Amino acid sequence: MSGNVLENNRDVNYIHRETCRICGSKQLYKFLELGPTPLANSFLREDQLKGKEDYYPLDMYFCRKCHLVQLSDIVNPEVMFKDYPYITGTSKPMQKHFFGLAKEVIHEFNIDKNDLIVDIGSNDGTLLQNFSNHGISTLGVEPASNISKLAEQKGISTINRFFNEECAKEIRNEFGPAKAITATNVFAHADDLNGILHGVDALLSDDGIFVVEVPYLLNLLINVEFDTVYHEHLSYFSLHPLIWLFHNYRMDIVNVKQIPVHGGSLRIFIKRAKSIISSSSNIFLQQEKNYNIDSLATYDNFSKNVKSVKYELVELLRKLKGKGKIISGYGATAKGNTLLNYCKIGPGILDYISDTTPFKQGRYTPGMHIPVVSENEFHANPPDYALLLAWNYAKDILIKEREYQSKGGRFIMPIPEPHIIWELISGE
Ligand code: TYD
Repeated sequence: MSGNVLENNRDVNYIHRETCRICGSKQLYKFLELGPTPLANSFLREDQLKGKEDYYPLDMYFCRKCHLVQLSDIVNPEVMFKDYPYITGTSKPMQKHFFGLAKEVIHEFNIDKNDLIVDIGSNDGTLLQNFSNHGISTLGVEPASNISKLAEQKGISTINRFFNEECAKEIRNEFGPAKAITATNVFAHADDLNGILHGVDALLSDDGIFVVEVPYLLNLLINVEFDTVYHEHLSYFSLHPLIWLFHNYRMDIVNVKQIPVHGGSLRIFIKRAKSIISSSSNIFLQQEKNYNIDSLATYDNFSKNVKSVKYELVELLRKLKGKGKIISGYGATAKGNTLLNYCKIGPGILDYISDTTPFKQGRYTPGMHIPVVSENEFHANPPDYALLLAWNYAKDILIKEREYQSKGGRFIMPIPEPHIIWELISGE
């Protein structure tokens, strides 16, 4: 079923699906409506401010059959990822993260120079660079043309398209099977998960390893990370539906661990069936069971918590504003745009948002139209309070901005309960 833009009634590129994207069940339970929302990464140039913006429904569903939490309104990926501003290499913590991931894969799975590593959603090639530094053959697959060009400029061969079975077969014909396939923070973005798995099945060598990283639903629920919900993130994973998915392709999880990125994620190692399986999956499944991850009441409770965050955050910011305080946002994140649009926090409350990404600077946030400036401007005109929209990097930022805080500036943490961070943290 195709949909119309909610506000300006033009035909647009989104569809509403009636079935779960993993198991095909129609038993979808809607538990949260964040309201019509523009795309979280569609930062506007000044000349676009007067034009109409496209808004799309942003509602969360729980599948009663396989337990996948998901969005059912799917914006055409061609629209969403055409000019994508997220560049992995610009983030120091992500560089460190990918260095560690490559090291782990090389050592744990005895990758050597004759092996091929394929990264799905390879962005600017930051992960693959760590493999090619060891002389290992790499190939990236990246649908955003502006970003795949950046990877090519760094010398990382990259195919500019979506990964699916057809693409996988072409790669195998030309380069042979892959010893390792990586997909970090890709599953959350894909409507056709089965298409990706068909591709992996076609490309992975018999003894190959498939490595998937996904933000973990349990962290989202416990920490009320509702702002990580935006149109790009179509699925929110616990282990249960992933096991369901891999089993359909005769693959098993051989190991799983928790990692700190994106508000708490899982790193999952998958092999073709008949491999040795560690007990780590059971630990996560038990944890999910203890949290009643299969119960509708859990999701209703989450929805209540989201409404409380909105109420308390808006109260806190209004009070500070009432005292004449200057407030900015720190990090023009996509999640920040969900938060700002849902809470209706606009330029009347936040004077500006600082961000290190050159592409975002000089633009305005989608929906709320708050100007994005460089970090230099934040330091030149420090606000009394800075709303930490990049809370996933809280520790790094609090250390980096010690001087701002020692001069009296304070950060506001929006979740799980909005609060001002009074303590200065130390350490490197
Ligand atoms: P990201 O973590 O990708 O969040 P999202 O997926 O919600 O967009 O984005 C982090 C943003 O924060 C990115 O635009 C860069 C910015 N940022 C800063 O401005 N300063 C910093 O010190 C850090 C760590 C990030």
